[in-house]
Amino acid sequence: MSRSASGFDVRPLPEGFTLGAATAAYQIEGSAFEDGRGPSIWDTFSRVPGAILTGENGDVACDHYRRYQDDVQMMRRMGLDSYRFSIAWPRIFPDGKTFNSRGGDFYSRLVDELLEAEILPWPTLYHWDLPQALQDEGGWLNRDTTDRFADYAAKMQQVLGDRITAWTTLNEPWCSSFLSHTAGLHAPGLVSVRGGLLSSHHLLLAHGKAINTWRSENSSQDLGVTLNLTVATAADAENPADVDAARRIDGQFNRWFLDPIFEGEYPNDIIADFTEVDRRAVEDFAKAIRPGDMDVISTNLDFLGVNYYHGEHVSGIAPKVAAERTEAPTPRETASPFPSNENIFWVERGLPRTDMNWEIDPGGLTTLLKRVSDDYTAKRDVALYVTENGAAFDDVVMGGPTADTVPTADAVPTTDSGSVEDTDRARFLEDHIAATIDAIDEGVDVRGYYYWSLMDNYEWAWGYSKRFGLVRVNYETQQRTLKRSAKTYMQIIEERALRVGDGK
Ligand code: FCB
Repeated sequence: MSRSASGFDVRPLPEGFTLGAATAAYQIEGSAFEDGRGPSIWDTFSRVPGAILTGENGDVACDHYRRYQDDVQMMRRMGLDSYRFSIAWPRIFPDGKTFNSRGGDFYSRLVDELLEAEILPWPTLYHWDLPQALQDEGGWLNRDTTDRFADYAAKMQQVLGDRITAWTTLNEPWCSSFLSHTAGLHAPGLVSVRGGLLSSHHLLLAHGKAINTWRSENSSQDLGVTLNLTVATAADAENPADVDAARRIDGQFNRWFLDPIFEGEYPNDIIADFTEVDRRAVEDFAKAIRPGDMDVISTNLDFLGVNYYHGEHVSGIAPKVAAERTEAPTPRETASPFPSNENIFWVERGLPRTDMNWEIDPGGLTTLLKRVSDDYTAKRDVALYVTENGAAFDDVVMGGPTADTVPTADAVPTTDSGSVEDTDRARFLEDHIAATIDAIDEGVDVRGYYYWSLMDNYEWAWGYSKRFGLVRVNYETQQRTLKRSAKTYMQIIEERALRVGDGK
């Protein structure tokens, strides 16, 4: 702790710690059919009746495809060190196979603009928007998709590789496998255990192939993957049923991805659980694992991106009061994303919740980073980044819609009239950065933190109904307004420290 020039007690951030914000292509870009972009599985899924709570899609979203220069200027003004974004695969290969240079040009311009603004570009290849043409050939259930992904990685290296220092393959393969192929909650909306298992293997294989492709062409870049991870706790640590429920959540959510990536094998206990649920699905999954696959999947990484939102507090026995649901209550038929879900019940533990009904538990982030480091990354010298962490709140715009202010095409505003006093989000941000620094103080190699999200955007099955942004987006006018949380972040970035104590 020390005292800053401004007179506050402050907790300095580690030297070189990166502070950024994250987005994803389908959630912000819009211009869904411009410049030769092909349809993705999200264009299709968002049009399936009942799939999206609000019936909305990403056709326009935040119009970022056309406003990217203003958005980069806004980031520059916020002082962000880095911007994590994803590339829309169907802009690059609209039919899954043929390169579309106009798609590549967009990301090339975006990267130039970021570098010009001294913001480190941190691109992710796959944030869930598979070209529909590849879905039509089986998507992630088809092994060929892994080769298409490696081609896509190679092409993007040609397009951006001279300016990119860090690449991420996948964002949250748990979501693009089990949530999408077993629960049916995300595109392509399948409900099958087999689908979740096969797609998870093919996603991991695609990841490994992309890393090997990049590594063979450029040895100096930092390469990694982003997983969404959780902290699963037993409601009663003395109760074996509760402990088993926590084991199965941890195994299906965390270890199913961490073990193959770092140890080159799927967790045996979870394979046994899956076999009890659906033996044929596990047999098909076992057949899909060809000799050499696990070596490709466990190829060396430079970093692991960790996305943390909340933990899972579970019991093996139905509680008297059920915890609140957290999935989008869409009318379509869906299932649990956990194939082994019998006797797993979420237990209310009285933590505050966000507008997604997600628990707010910053301490869980420290626990998670420490665990991932101890069990997987420290011994392999793999750095950690918090690549997503954030909260939706029901923001109130003060001063009415006209005050919802803006960078426009030709001017970055110097004042922010109209405001969103999202002190809850500002607090969330500070507490989670503090939790990250706590992990670093405990010896964990965490190099950066990216808030989700830079701006309000299309929250998948929830449509535009959930706002995660540091920046408010008025979807009628596309005006952007920095919220209180953005200003808090700007202060942290400028001071390279967290203000602490009553003085803040
Ligand atoms: C993560 C996703 C991201 C966003 C946040 C709220 O799981 O990666 O796109 O939806 O949740």
